[in-house]
Amino acid sequence: MKDFNYCNPTKIVFGKESLDELPLLLEGYNNILLVCDKGACQANDLVNKIESLLPEKQLFIVDSISPNPDVADCETIIESVKSAEIDFILAVGGGSIIDASKFIGSALSSPVERYWDLMVDNSLITSVLPIGVICTLPATGSEANPNMVITNNDIQSKVAADSELLFPRFAIMNPMYTLTLPQKQTAYGVVDAFVHVLEQYLTTVEYAPLQDRQSEAVMSTLLECGPHLLNNPNDYELRATIMWAAQAAHNGLIACGVAQDWATHRIGHALTALYNIPHAPTLAIVLPELLAYTKADKHDKILQLGERVFQLRCGAQDDPNTVVNEVIRLISGFFKEMGVNDNIFEFIDPNESETVVDCVVAQFNGQTLGERKKLDQNCIKQIMANVLIRD
Ligand code: NZQ
Ligand code: ZN
Repeated sequence: MKDFNYCNPTKIVFGKESLDELPLLLEGYNNILLVCDKGACQANDLVNKIESLLPEKQLFIVDSISPNPDVADCETIIESVKSAEIDFILAVGGGSIIDASKFIGSALSSPVERYWDLMVDNSLITSVLPIGVICTLPATGSEANPNMVITNNDIQSKVAADSELLFPRFAIMNPMYTLTLPQKQTAYGVVDAFVHVLEQYLTTVEYAPLQDRQSEAVMSTLLECGPHLLNNPNDYELRATIMWAAQAAHNGLIACGVAQDWATHRIGHALTALYNIPHAPTLAIVLPELLAYTKADKHDKILQLGERVFQLRCGAQDDPNTVVNEVIRLISGFFKEMGVNDNIFEFIDPNESETVVDCVVAQFNGQTLGERKKLDQNCIKQIMANVLIRD
């Protein structure tokens, strides 16, 4: 097991009555910036509910953040509240709203010349306003993790940053709010969470049996309950299970003591920055080809995944390579079952296909990716070339 530090300070308040705790959670804070997802708030009447719970507080309400939050939209909000002496940021939405709130909280508190620099050099995040979350979309785990992902459309760049200062103080998680999610967003969330686990599990072989089994439990839960939820979207227990699983997938616990990959996410972010492809489909597009390309390195872990999560037996008479290929096929099959499109041509113009590979590779500027930092420009080129010729 590798050495690690672990501290997750986010208080989770989970369940149907969780919003009632908001006044207590915000005790002592007076000038609150409410960063809202418009659709989620309207569908659940959340702004009215929050206002009536906090009659004494000064609320500054903004709802102008779009999915894959753009730094320019965040900057507009930062400038508009700069002199308001905001002392708390309450994010009401999914990953985009939470990440934008983390960015705004960093920018309002860390002295930098250009706010984007906070994404380029994480050490510039020296202070962050306290943040709380009302989670409306189980997917990213941002409600209880120290990460944020912000896009800069001017330079076609989508970057992840992390700092311990970015952990939210609390996350109110009421599965009832997720009943209003469109089927597509529900499915995207399940697939995103599943890939988060894979990026921390399908790496090097460590002696970390507890972490492996924690990861396997989260994946098995998503595989079992994800499709079930699509057929029963109003089932509270399934909504609650997916909400808890998505949080468990990316709150730092399963990452303890093991190597992490994140190459699929990095290439996925490049595809979003370049072609505005939503986050989960980028993962469904990239992951199968990335696994096919790296399967020799990941061989033993893929076999373990096959045996423990997909119940595939690899007996003495079986060819392990055939089993590995079958596991990759089953992962792809799960994305399809969830209805998440894994065909890049559903999102890009066929005319762009000649330049896709070079544009993606250019995003990495010589960096190497993966748990072994082995995926160089040529490897990324090959993976993307395979993405383009996949049936
Ligand atoms: O536009 P409206 O109609 O408001 O629809 C919203 C939103 O646009 C809808 N929605 C959310 N909650 C709803 C709801 N609709 C009805 N009822 C509700 N309860 O969902 C749309 C998508 O929301 P978004 O926040 O963009 O989705 P998600 O939570 O998947 O977040 C994606 C962003 O998070 C980043 C992604 O890259 C992307 O930018 N990620 C953040 C991570 C992190 N901070 O740790 C890790 C992830 O890997 C990911 O990269
Ligand atoms: Zn993700």
